[in-house]
Amino acid sequence: MDLITLNTKNRGLKGEIAVPGDKSISHRSIMFGSIANGKTTVTNFLLGDDCLSTIACFRKLGVLIEQNEKEVVIHGKGMEALQEPKDILDVGNSGTTIRLLTGILSGLPFHSTLIGDSSIGKRPMTRVVAPLREMGAKIDGREDGKYTPLSVRGGNLQSITYRLPVASAQVKSAILFAGLNADGVTKIIEPVPTRDHTERMIQRFGGEISRKDKEIFVEGAQKLSGTDIHVPGDISSAAFFLVAGCIVPNSKISLNNVGLNPTRTGILDVLHNMGACMEIHKNDTDVFEPTGTITVSTSDLKGTTIEGEIIPKLIDEIPIIALLATQAEGETVIKDAHELKVKETNRIDTVVTELKKLGADIQATEDGMIIRGGKKLIGTKVDSHGDHRIGMMLAIAAQICEGELILQNAKAISVSYPSFFEHLNALSNG
Ligand code: S3P
Repeated sequence: MDLITLNTKNRGLKGEIAVPGDKSISHRSIMFGSIANGKTTVTNFLLGDDCLSTIACFRKLGVLIEQNEKEVVIHGKGMEALQEPKDILDVGNSGTTIRLLTGILSGLPFHSTLIGDSSIGKRPMTRVVAPLREMGAKIDGREDGKYTPLSVRGGNLQSITYRLPVASAQVKSAILFAGLNADGVTKIIEPVPTRDHTERMIQRFGGEISRKDKEIFVEGAQKLSGTDIHVPGDISSAAFFLVAGCIVPNSKISLNNVGLNPTRTGILDVLHNMGACMEIHKNDTDVFEPTGTITVSTSDLKGTTIEGEIIPKLIDEIPIIALLATQAEGETVIKDAHELKVKETNRIDTVVTELKKLGADIQATEDGMIIRGGKKLIGTKVDSHGDHRIGMMLAIAAQICEGELILQNAKAISVSYPSFFEHLNALSNG
């Protein structure tokens, strides 16, 4: 299924779907379940390639993890029960796995080696290696720890005060995991807020963490206890169908059980500002992560500017927002998004290159892109470049293109949304 031909059906997208579980929360449920004491049962776990890589790594660290279509059960025995792996830990395509796992391994008195695929090999690791070394972990890697493979020999960590130089939840989380196992109180200063799933999960597993404005405090030597986690639907996956519902003529789509954590909902603000026909109904029964149902329908859209503190709240949605902007009246400017350059691909390059092939008026800038809307897109051969979010953005583009769109490297989509084409077909026939 690596080369897919897609055609517009022109009947619109209609119906109701529940997008799969949140990727960030699924990863963290395995990590916390593995370092906690007792059984953790996770429902609506995302069975995408990235989260399966996390399970495989923790099994290599000696954790018993049972997994079927309905649930994942982790039999945690506490941090100190993790064992030196006999084999290399392979994170596949997953940046979240390698960065957070490096934080956990930094607190453990044994040796481990981490590798990933060719995309992981290009992604910067200094951002986690530097603070973890400061805490006392011995970490080495290619070009002095800039890139994978990484090798870690942890243990005896000291708490630190660390100001995050990049707005990254992965870096914050790696330090929090290490901080849970360090001597003293670790303080992280987060100049711009990023997703707070790790903080919420520490509390869910019975741990303590506090926040005062931009400062986060976590005490070391905490004991966590296993719990049940129901993973909300992933707003980053929902984003593809939120945009599809707005730009495909004659559409109305409802997405159920979508995570509405305010550190992730930047896309909803953008849709609102651009004039999308959208209704949001929040569930009031949630305790751990907020969720709700979002309904969108075909909309007349106008361009907008996206910059500043909202960027981390929608960083993974920028590829699909770029497609949205091609269908809006006027100009959309995306700024302050340098981080796009170090995602699964350089997403400024891959978004601009692929949308240009379809005839969009889009231009790369140093920290984002400028899109002038209102141009009809024409189908042709395009490429995901092995990046799941670029692949899904192009598959949604196919729904509004004139003629046939051929998507190369479509299989990357299974990294975060294995049932994507099933859902797209269901909505096309809805
Ligand atoms: C993630 C954080 C973000 C995001 C990634 C998942 C997480 O990365 O892009 O897909 O689960 O913490 P950064 O924190 O590096 O920006």
